[in-house]
Amino acid sequence: MKRPKITIVGAGNVGATAAHWCASKELGDVVLVDIMEGIPQGKALDLLQSGPVEGFDCRIIGSNDYAVTENSDVVVITAGLPRKPGMSRDDLLKTNAKIVGDVTEKVVKYSPKSTLLVVSNPLDAMAYVAKKVSGFPRNRVIGMAGVLDSARFKTFIAEAANVSVEDVHGFVYGGHGDTMVPMTRFCSISGVPLETFLSKEKIDQIVERTKNGGIEIVNYLKAGSAYYAPSASVVQMVEAIVRDKKRVLPCAVELEGEYGIKGLFVGVLAKLGTNGMEQVVELQLNDTEKTLLNKSADAVRGLIQVLEGK
Ligand code: LAC
Repeated sequence: MKRPKITIVGAGNVGATAAHWCASKELGDVVLVDIMEGIPQGKALDLLQSGPVEGFDCRIIGSNDYAVTENSDVVVITAGLPRKPGMSRDDLLKTNAKIVGDVTEKVVKYSPKSTLLVVSNPLDAMAYVAKKVSGFPRNRVIGMAGVLDSARFKTFIAEAANVSVEDVHGFVYGGHGDTMVPMTRFCSISGVPLETFLSKEKIDQIVERTKNGGIEIVNYLKAGSAYYAPSASVVQMVEAIVRDKKRVLPCAVELEGEYGIKGLFVGVLAKLGTNGMEQVVELQLNDTEKTLLNKSADAVRGLIQVLEGK
């Protein structure tokens, strides 16, 4: 059987670290592409040479030429500029739309059957651009944000409740921005509702910290944004697809009327397997949750309108 082929576009911190996780989990052969001459080649060769130490068998190549990405099964798009302090994800809108559009065109030329996992910001709008430019069906264009936002949410819960992160379950809905919706009602510690462990006040604080989880790190790093957790998050999605795991993960998917939303990428729970996004999970939301999700969808719609000059 052929090994899965995973292309990662963008050899910056997110892309290179994603390549690292893919290799260490032996998810398949990895191609790292970037416009910067020498960077993808150097990072790929360096990572390849860690194989004998770490004991993984993967081909890892770096290139500036998309021809080597031919017939990839999964393509992770991280290309674009990261945020600097004082910048919102939305400030990146037009610059990154152009970059993501160009990249998508090149990717689909060589891998017309691939599944695209978009990581570039502003996430929900960039997933929309990739879908539009690729002309792929919605099951093959998925945005990574929910796994990351949920990981932050779960980290803070585990810390506050002094329990293992392994026992914290929960997810974040909505767009990858200030309006994201940590779904506290569905969050549990080993199936036990959160309120058993934490006060309402503490939960509210964690919700706020989760919403600002990205900027908290930008403010520390100053010259870039987070990359360990973002890359681990997208690799969890890659793994679900290449190993056909049928994982149910929060992802940005194009809704076709689910949750009363149409034609927009919004974070919701979805099942990931060989065919990419195989099912949107529809939950019964209460009125508050519906209002918050709609507000978040409105924020995403606003970005798309700016992009399309409406
Ligand atoms: C973050 C950026 C990558 O949330 O969107 O860290």
